[in-house]
Amino acid sequence: MSRNLREALKGKLTDDELRRLRAFDIIGDIAVIKLPDELLPKKHLIGQALMRVHRHVRTVLRQVGAVSGEFRTRELEVIAGGPRTETTYHEGGCTFKADLARVYFSPRLAHERLRIASLVKPGEVVTNLFAGVGCYSIIIAKHSRAARVYSIDKNPNAFKYMCENIRINKVGDRVAPILGDAREVVKAQLAGKADRVLMPLPELARKFFDVALLALKPGGGIVHLYDFGEEPEPFKKSLEFVRATAGASGKKVELCESRKVRSYAPRVYHVVLDLKIS
Ligand SMILES: C[S@@+](CC[C@H](N)C(=O)[O-])C[C@H]1O[C@@H](n2cnc3c(N)ncnc32)[C@H](O)[C@@H]1O
Repeated sequence: MSRNLREALKGKLTDDELRRLRAFDIIGDIAVIKLPDELLPKKHLIGQALMRVHRHVRTVLRQVGAVSGEFRTRELEVIAGGPRTETTYHEGGCTFKADLARVYFSPRLAHERLRIASLVKPGEVVTNLFAGVGCYSIIIAKHSRAARVYSIDKNPNAFKYMCENIRINKVGDRVAPILGDAREVVKAQLAGKADRVLMPLPELARKFFDVALLALKPGGGIVHLYDFGEEPEPFKKSLEFVRATAGASGKKVELCESRKVRSYAPRVYHVVLDLKIS
């Protein structure tokens, strides 16, 4: 939470209300904030204050519910500024356009996207099973010498923005956007092609781990598996799961790295396991 926003609202909100203000994201010229029910009567006041504190913000959206559904989207309500949900955002030297009401988008993964890009070796083929508007895929193409990045998403809106973002960032020679279900796409056209597979959708990671294995070259490669993990051993269950699943298909798993990507709920983390499969 920006201390400035709290200061801007002093005298307009009670001390108790100020304490209830939560963190917000700024994505390009749009801010997205979650508000507890007690603050809803003051939502416009809060939105206007946020625009005064962050001068480049042109619209403030309230996130109405949780990120949900197959496409991981969220309901948004305009509480200040112009009525729109599309914005342009810069990260890692790349530009991304996205309609925040129609696609998944999080600026909180910026560090993780750059970390993955830094691991990609020259000439690698990468398959991204859940690419959204293409952030990981495009950042990988810009920051590495990957030969090809297959970039799959099932949401037609995410696919539309991914195509536009590939064009804006001039990576069309190496990033191949594919609209469809990752399982169907890999089975039909991408089996055995990848040196590295990304699975940036914790909700489906375990259900699609077999698809990641299928996407790898016959000799194996790296899988970045995103999952949820609980303290005190946030990586244990994911690792047990991948070892059992890979073992059942005669493959060996070596854990190269495990890290907490971000906090998800009390004692629960969004985690990533970098796995070498052979
Ligand atoms: C958490 S988002 C990915 C975000 C993206 N990696 C990024 O950095 O912005 C997950 C994406 O997976 C897509 N998705 C969900 N189920 C899918 C499936 N079965 N096949 C392909 N994509 C799927 C959703 O539409 C959504 O865009």
